[in-house]
Amino acid sequence: MKSIMLETALQYHNHTSYDPKEMSGHGLDWANQPNVYKEYPGIEPIQLSLEVLNSPSPSPLPQGGEGLKRKGVLPRKLASVLKDDAVSEIGSDSLNIDDLSLLLRLTNTLTAKSSHPGGDFYYRSAASAGALYPTEIYVATHGVKALDDGLYHFAIHRHALFPLRKGDFSNYVTAHVAHMGNKIPVITVFLTAIFFRSAWKYRERSYRYHLLDTGHVMENLTLALKALHLPFRLSYDFDDDPINHLLGLNETKEITLAMACITTIDGIHQPTKQNLDKLTETFRKASNTAKKEIDYPAVREIHLAGTPFLAQKGAMPDMGKEIGLATNSWIKISPSLNWSEILEYPDAMFNRRSQRHYAKNPMSKDSFIALLDTLLSKDFQGSDMVSSYEQSVGTGFIVNDIEGFSRGLYLLNRSDQSIGLVSSDVLTSQMARICLGQSWLTNASVHFLFMSNLDLLDQARGPRGYRYAMMTAGRWGERLYVASTAMGLGCCGIGAFYDMHAAQTIGLNGASWLLYLVAVGTIR
Ligand SMILES: Cc1cc2nc3c(=O)[nH]c(=O)nc-3n(C[C@H](O)[C@H](O)[C@H](O)COP(=O)(O)O)c2cc1C
Repeated sequence: MKSIMLETALQYHNHTSYDPKEMSGHGLDWANQPNVYKEYPGIEPIQLSLEVLNSPSPSPLPQGGEGLKRKGVLPRKLASVLKDDAVSEIGSDSLNIDDLSLLLRLTNTLTAKSSHPGGDFYYRSAASAGALYPTEIYVATHGVKALDDGLYHFAIHRHALFPLRKGDFSNYVTAHVAHMGNKIPVITVFLTAIFFRSAWKYRERSYRYHLLDTGHVMENLTLALKALHLPFRLSYDFDDDPINHLLGLNETKEITLAMACITTIDGIHQPTKQNLDKLTETFRKASNTAKKEIDYPAVREIHLAGTPFLAQKGAMPDMGKEIGLATNSWIKISPSLNWSEILEYPDAMFNRRSQRHYAKNPMSKDSFIALLDTLLSKDFQGSDMVSSYEQSVGTGFIVNDIEGFSRGLYLLNRSDQSIGLVSSDVLTSQMARICLGQSWLTNASVHFLFMSNLDLLDQARGPRGYRYAMMTAGRWGERLYVASTAMGLGCCGIGAFYDMHAAQTIGLNGASWLLYLVAVGTIR
C-alpha cells in the first residue's frame, strides 16, 4: 500500500480497501498474539459481587441467573427493552456497587469457553472481529455506595475493578465532554480500543474493527442502561487528550472512543478543567498487549485526524438519502406487536454467538419486521447528537428468502419508518463472493448493509465523523445479533469484503462505501 498521510475518512477507507488483485495473504505471528485481558501488575483488584453472576468468573455464563432476576426488572422481552422510554430518578446516592457490577456484567462478560492445547479461550457477550476484543471498559464513579469515588478499569475476566485513581472526576469529565447535559454523572463509562489487538491480524484495516467492535459493546451498554431504566447520555465527542490522560492510557497504543454518563436528577455539574497528575508508567504500560507491537501509522493517523471534534458544525446529512440509492415508492412498516422471542433479555445477549450455518428455510415475515423494528428503535435520551450519529449511516438490506417479501435490494428510511425497493436484483451470492468468498452467506435470509457517503461525512464532521458512522454501524450490528438470538435466528457480522466491488454491486455513488454487512438467517 502507498504511504500517504491520511487526513479524511474517505482516504482511510479507500486506503484500507480490500482489492482481490492486491490480496497477498499474510500469516499470523502466533508467538506474538496479543493478550486479550488488560492487567495492572501490583494493583489489587476489587472483586465485584458474584451474587449478580450465575457462576464464578471466569467461566461460561450463559444463563440470566437469580441475581439478575432479583433486581425485579430483569429478565424482560427485548422488544420491551428497546421500546421502553421509562427512566428512574437517580439521586446522588441511589446506586451502589452491586448496581455497577450488574451494569458491567450486562455490558460485556465472558459467555462461552473453547478449550485448546494452549489453554482455554473465552468468548464474550459482545461480538468482535476475529475474537480479538480490542475494547476495554473504564468507569469513573461519584457517590456510588460501597465504592470510593474514583476511576477504575473493569477487568472482564475477573469481574473486578482495578482502582486507577482516587477522587471525584465528575466535573473534570463534564468539562471535556459534549452533549452530557448539565447534570452530575454518578457513573461515567468509557470505552477504549487497544490498537494492536486487532492490528495483529487486520493491520492497517484494523481501525475499522476498533470502531465497529466498540459500537458492539456500546450497544450492549445502551441496552443495559435502558433495561435498568437508568437515565444516560452517550457521546463520541470529547477532548481526546484530557480523557486519555484521565484513564492513564498510552495513547500511541490505546485510545478512548466513546463514553456514556448516568446522570442524577439533583445537582448541576460545575465543569472544571483541573490539572490531573500523570499516572505512572505501570498504568501506561498496561496498554501493551504483545511482546513485539507493530505500529501501523495509518491507524494512528486517521484516529489523530479525528481528534478535534466539531460538535456545532451544522446538521448531519441523512446518509440514507446521500449514498446514491433510490426507490420509486416507500412502504410504511407497521411496528411488530408479535416478536416471537424464545429468549428474553439478558439471556438473549448472553447466548449470542456468530452463526454461519443457515438452513434453507425462509425467515418469517413477523421475525423480519421485528428485526426492522429493532433497527428503528431510538435511544430515549433524544439528543440531537444521537440523531446525528444515527444519520451518519444509511441502512439497506438484500432480501434473499423472507416470507411475503419480494427478493431484491431495499432501503430503510429511519425517519419515516418505511422501506423502499431499490432493485429486484438478488445480490446475496454476489455479496458472498465479494465478502472474500464466504460462501455460507448465500444461504442467509437477509444481508443488512450499513453504508455512508464518506465525502459528505468528512464535510459535515471532519474525519471524526468516521467514528460516528462506524460505531453506529457496530451498535446496529450488535442489536441485530441480540434480536436474532432472542428469536432463534442466526446472525453474523461481516467486516471483510472487497470494498470497491461491494460499492459497485450495491450501486452506491462514487463517494459512498459499505461499512459493515450483517447477515441473518434461519438455523436448524
Ligand atoms: C466487526 C465484526 C466483523 C466481523 N467479520 C466477520 C467476517 O468477516 N467473517 C466471519 O465469519 N465472522 C466475522 N465476525 C464475527 C466474529 O468472528 C465473531 O464475533 C468472533 O469470532 C467471536 O465469536 P462470537 O460472535 O460467536 O462470540 C465479525 C464480527 C464483528 C464484530
